[in-house]
Order: sequence, then structure tokens, then C-alpha cells
Amino acid sequence: MMEWTDRHCRYLHRLLSRHTLLYTEMVTAPALVRGGALHLLDHSPEEHPVALQLGGSDPAELAQAARLGAEAGYAEINLNCGCPSDRVQSGTFGAVLMRDPGLVAECVAAMRAAVDVDVTVKCRIGVDDQDPEEVLPEFLARVVAAGCERVQIHARKAWLQGLNPRENREIPPLDYDLVQRMKARFPDLHISINGGIASLDEAEALLASGFDGVMVGRAAYHQPADLLCAADRRIFAAPGPDSTAEDAVRAMLPYIEAHLASGGRLHQVTRHMLGLFAGRPGARGWRRVLSEGAVQPGAGPELVEAALGEVMRAAA
Ligand SMILES: Cc1cc2nc3c(=O)[nH]c(=O)nc-3n(C[C@H](O)[C@H](O)[C@H](O)COP(=O)(O)O)c2cc1C
Repeated sequence: MMEWTDRHCRYLHRLLSRHTLLYTEMVTAPALVRGGALHLLDHSPEEHPVALQLGGSDPAELAQAARLGAEAGYAEINLNCGCPSDRVQSGTFGAVLMRDPGLVAECVAAMRAAVDVDVTVKCRIGVDDQDPEEVLPEFLARVVAAGCERVQIHARKAWLQGLNPRENREIPPLDYDLVQRMKARFPDLHISINGGIASLDEAEALLASGFDGVMVGRAAYHQPADLLCAADRRIFAAPGPDSTAEDAVRAMLPYIEAHLASGGRLHQVTRHMLGLFAGRPGARGWRRVLSEGAVQPGAGPELVEAALGEVMRAAA
């Protein structure tokens, strides 16, 4: 998610769950290939497994970008066919690609030929006046034929005219049943459902209803502990105790020190940690100490320890 799932966010989320697959922000193929912005691929080995999401619509350029991503160590290369922002539409990528399944298939085939890791596609159920019942099966058939074995479907349309990106995540209605019917139609295709999933209970129910995966965006960002601490046990049946937000905070301290030592600022990391204690006693103090203090010059890990103290005191 743009501006959200940067490397610091992913490092934190990986401390909370070993087995969930994490995704980068969308990185555009032109930025990597024409702009040479290879720093956009920087990440820590501890984040793995991580999928790199690419934006673009030029098959050769996407193939080259996918190659760079695979060389940088990403576990999966994902093509964005869901983002509705104007900036993205004018570059002819994102959700507007739902209108051109032939081009998407060419992109997937070129990326597939360029890398050994999985090439996957994140899409909507359609855009504007398209009939999802008609266009989605066609879209999926084309990408599958081009070598895509997994898709993540945001189960609502994007309305490219008249809605901003935020409205496009809320106003077009969710249609899980339609995506369910796609699973019945493409039983060999690994389908992850996305959109509006707010808890592990909901995630479990969707998996039990036949989806192969669930993708959680906003809830995982705003309440990372609620979504991730028990995910390894509940979703992946992994043995061992659940992770805790407190342990993750302590494990972030050396990471924060290294980030500051390399010239970074505290708030670049802590802004992703604000929701860690959401719904728990002390959450407000935690947020306040971090959001007021982390932007101050010279702020360091001791501020994070002080914020954690607010939570510990509230729990005592
Ligand atoms: C701030 C923000 C940035 C996003 N950036 C991306 C992105 O770069 N690529 C993408 O495929 N989806 C992006 N999305 C959409 C989410 O991945 C997801 O499809 C959407 O929020 C619905 O899922 P949710 O209800 O679990 O959040 C973004 C969403 C938000 C809130």
C-alpha cells in the first residue's frame, strides 16, 4: 500500500507474524527501468517472504522490472490492476487495465518469461460500467493462460470517473459472492479475496468458505497486533506461542538504532507503530508520546521505551 507498507512497516509486521506474505508499495516499472530508481527495491532480508508489486503496462519494461525485483530477492512479482488514481490512469496502469485483458496477459507472459518466482495479479472485479460477471472470467482466463497461478481480487469495482482513490475503496459495493463464483469456475487458480476484511475471524470464515487466501490491507495497518499476532497459529497452523506487541516493540529498538545511525528519522519507523496497542489500555498514551515526540530533532529509541511505559503502567 502506497506510503504505508514501506520497508519499516514490513519489518514490524514480520516481527508479529512469520508466515503471512507481505507486499511492497506499488513500484512503477518506468521508475525502475527508465528512472534507475533501484533504491525502491531496498529491503531487509528479515522481511521475507515479500512480494514486490509493480505498476506498468509495457510488457518489455515490466519484464525488466520483474527481473530486477527477482534479483533483489523478492519472493513474488505482482502486477497492479486495481489502483484507480488519476496519476496511475494517465500512465495506463492500475485498474484501467481491467479494460485490456489482452495487454495484461502480454505483460504477465513477459514477466513470467523473465523470472522464476511466481508472477501474480491483483485486480478489481471490473471498472465503471463493465459487467463483472462477464469481464472477470475473461480477464482471469487470459492471465491464467499467460502463466499467472495466483490472483488477489479486491471484490469491488473501481469507478474511474468521479471517485477519488479513497472513495474507490469504500463506495463501490463489495461482492464476495461473485469472487466465490470465480473460484468455482477456476478451481485450479489460487484466489485470495480482498476488501473490507477486518478481523482474523472474518479471514478464517472466508478461508473456510473456499478461498485460497485472504489479503488484508487497512485493518492490518491500523491494528497490526489484532490481525497478525495470532495469524501464524490460526491461519497457518504453526506451533508456538502468539507474538505480542510488547515483544515486537522491544525487537524494533535495535532496528530503530540502526536506522538512526544510517541518517534516518525516528518517525519514519514509529509512524507505522501507532496502532500496535489499538483497543488496549494505554493505547492513547502510546500514540501521544510517539506522535508528539518522534518528529522532534534527536528523538531516539528511548522515546519508544517511554511510550511502552505508558502501556505497561496502564496494564499494571
Ligand atoms: C493508503 C493505501 C494505499 C494503497 N496502495 C495500494 C497499492 O499500492 N497497491 C494496491 O494493489 N493496492 C493498494 N491499496 C488498496 C489495498 O491494497 C486494498 O486493496 C484495499 O484497501 C481494500 O482492502 P482492505 O479493505 O483490506 O483495506 C491501498 C490502500 C490504501 C488505504
